[in-house]
Amino acid sequence: MQLFSKTRLPTWIAASAVALAAPGIAQTDADMLPGAKLYQARCMSCHSLDANRIGPAHRGVFGRPAGSAPGYAYSSALKKSGLTWDATTLDTWLQGPQKMAPGAKMYYVVPNPAERSAIIAYLKATSGK
Ligand code: HEC
Repeated sequence: MQLFSKTRLPTWIAASAVALAAPGIAQTDADMLPGAKLYQARCMSCHSLDANRIGPAHRGVFGRPAGSAPGYAYSSALKKSGLTWDATTLDTWLQGPQKMAPGAKMYYVVPNPAERSAIIAYLKATSGK
């Protein structure tokens, strides 16, 4: 028991130090948005905010040109699309990525307009916009 808490405590302290040092306040606010849960349920099988996975990392996506997350291997369709992500382009994308950029590597759609706008608000908040 004693040994257990001795090994656990430093990890706990390190984790909270990181959380405090990071721009934690903005992130906490974004986590309160209804879109946070939707993002988790709908998008996180392929995306995360800070790491490229099956899809590119999303932090900062709101306001940046399509196909510009560093280190992610985009389709040429998306790279050459000339799109910039804002509320309108994201809304169109989430209704049909293939219609917007034929040949893109994302096929997932969010048919419900309220869910789309909640997810977009979350992407905007996590981009600091
Ligand atoms: C089944 C996997 C998958 C799911 C689920 C998915 N995506 Fe994607 N997404 C991708 C892939 C792969 C790409 C890269 C597309 C390309 O390169 O053509 C992408 C690209 C994107 C881009 C373009 C980003 C950029 O940097 O240009 C946005 C925005 C995006 N996804 C939003 C979402 C959102 C929001 C959700 C949840 C509603 C979602 N995606 C769900 C796989 C997925």
